[in-house]
Amino acid sequence: MKVRCSQLKDITILGIETSCDETSAAVAVNGRAILSNIISSQVDLHGKFGGVVPEIASRKHVELVLPVINQALEEACVEAKDVDAVGVTYGPGLVGALLVGLSAAKGIAYVLNKPLIGVHHIEGHIAANYLENPLLEPPFICLVASGGHSHIVYVKGFKSFEIMGRTKDDAAGEAFDKIARAIGLGYPGGPLIDKTAVNGNSKAIEFPRVYFQGGSLDFSFSGLKTAVLNYLGNMKQKGEKIVIEDLCASFQQAVVDVLVKNTVEAALVREAGKIALAGGVAANSLLRRCMKEAAEKKGIEVYYPKPVLCTDNAAMIASAAFFEYKSGNTADLCLNAIPGLKLGD
Ligand code: KG4
Ligand code: ZN
Repeated sequence: MKVRCSQLKDITILGIETSCDETSAAVAVNGRAILSNIISSQVDLHGKFGGVVPEIASRKHVELVLPVINQALEEACVEAKDVDAVGVTYGPGLVGALLVGLSAAKGIAYVLNKPLIGVHHIEGHIAANYLENPLLEPPFICLVASGGHSHIVYVKGFKSFEIMGRTKDDAAGEAFDKIARAIGLGYPGGPLIDKTAVNGNSKAIEFPRVYFQGGSLDFSFSGLKTAVLNYLGNMKQKGEKIVIEDLCASFQQAVVDVLVKNTVEAALVREAGKIALAGGVAANSLLRRCMKEAAEKKGIEVYYPKPVLCTDNAAMIASAAFFEYKSGNTADLCLNAIPGLKLGD
């Protein structure tokens, strides 16, 4: 008789994330359950500059990384010596910011003689779905839309990825942030536009949607951004009143329409019955609603993490690290930060 051998021991991983402007540490078990997830955001600090200032981000990470790690262990009621491995984001991201988390992770791994695991930030975003939906397994299509990335990824296995579409210019979140800045809403723009759009008419202003020919599932948001900036300039020149709510709703609808159409198309091409959303933009209420509506019409299920797991956090890094650990994919202390790390590298 064949006996199915389940995992003998739970694997507890300390995750560390400092790729941009959140200093985060978390403890997760078997890539599926969160024991703690501490996120210290620097949003207020960068807000007055309208975006992340890399040097300020690195300095703040240096101040915060150890207290945040200690808090994560304390909240999880886990002693550092009892974790099975330390997972850390090593790219892509801001090099100075990445180096802070990486140095802390190496120090802990060395002192405690634990395996060090380098995690790709986008794999982390995808893994947030495993924390939210403990039964979710590949294959599925994942739309990863954040401040730095807009990728349609075919997740063939826990560690096997194929990029089916990507942005040719701005990332979706970057477009939200730039438009919010242009209309004086603040930073980060995504959540502010999401909120403001609730009271607006999404059909008030006709903004362009870019679709590429020949089956390409790539995105382009720079034309949309220019169209919004031109609209603002024209209205100002004519002395006409801009209804911010309508502008936010119309812009948001244009972004969401393209993200939804291409992602559902990718699922149909790969005959995938599941779509997952990941990255900061996955917190967008219209995107969640429209993706569900469009996918369900085609019999495709839609998964997304709660908003706090969509934006940068270390629980997702601890989850992705678990799947690396299971494949025996540990790193040595020479692991370096790679700001432009590609998915699948
Ligand atoms: O994943 P994330 O925290 O950082 C990166 O890896 O880039 O994503 C941050 C991005 C920002 O551009 C932010 O404006 C956007 O996600 N974002 C949103 C929403 N919440 C965050 N965009 C649209 N709607 C939201 N509710
Ligand atoms: Zn991110």
